[in-house]
Amino acid sequence: MGTKDKIELDMENIPQHIAIIMDGNGRWAKKKRLMKKLGHKAGADVLEKITNVARDLGVMHITAYAFSTENWKRSEEEVAGIMDLLRHYLKDHIRNARKRSIKIDVIGDVTRLDEDIQQQILTLKELTKDKPGINLHIALNYGGRNELLRAIKKIAQKSNDGEIAPDDITEDYISSHLDTAGVPDPELLIRTSGEERISNFLLWQIAYSEFNFSDKLWPDYTGEDLKQAIWEYQNRDRRFGGRNS
Ligand code: FPP
Repeated sequence: MGTKDKIELDMENIPQHIAIIMDGNGRWAKKKRLMKKLGHKAGADVLEKITNVARDLGVMHITAYAFSTENWKRSEEEVAGIMDLLRHYLKDHIRNARKRSIKIDVIGDVTRLDEDIQQQILTLKELTKDKPGINLHIALNYGGRNELLRAIKKIAQKSNDGEIAPDDITEDYISSHLDTAGVPDPELLIRTSGEERISNFLLWQIAYSEFNFSDKLWPDYTGEDLKQAIWEYQNRDRRFGGRNS
């Protein structure tokens, strides 16, 4: 049932895809007088836990915003800290891939990441591609506008090469040229830390997503919070532009 009692979810109506903007790592670290990179480390650990809870509930896809095209503007030290954390995270998943049931891939323009990270991403993707469980899509050097720009360039090239005519371009055709090709649009988008913005995340894909804004800082986010967000989603009236009565 409701918010304070034990949360009872309708297991027939679990979102297939949840998008998460993991915000508040910096503030969490500051509150605890810790270095920022420890906030990001705690954030990466929470992502791990939340992915496991989501998997157990039957969610098929999580897309997590780990590094945006705008995040390069942060201090060199912070960017290096996040990249190092990413190296460790990828290494750990590569090492334990056989034991885990999570499929991991990356969305975003990975060409700007260091060569060794690109290589780790390829290795992990290959190692986990046949896993039956949840698919974790990590957004790295990701921006929704950049993704659309890259898709439009691919489509323009095909048009230029005479492979397609303008009328061949449909909404599905555009979707199939995005980084998320083949993945259903997120039914639910969660952002933590009290901020209520989209910040260039999945602009095309969230056309009909339900938004859930939590005041908690991402490292404090729990499995119960995720269940609460899903409960709220299940109790919303989704009309997709139509009417239900
Ligand atoms: C937002 O918090 C978070 C980020 C910009 C980075 C998110 C990164 C992680 C959770 C770790 C890296 C992920 C993996 C998978 C290794 P913020 O720093 O903007 O928080 P603030 O607004 O409080 O400063």
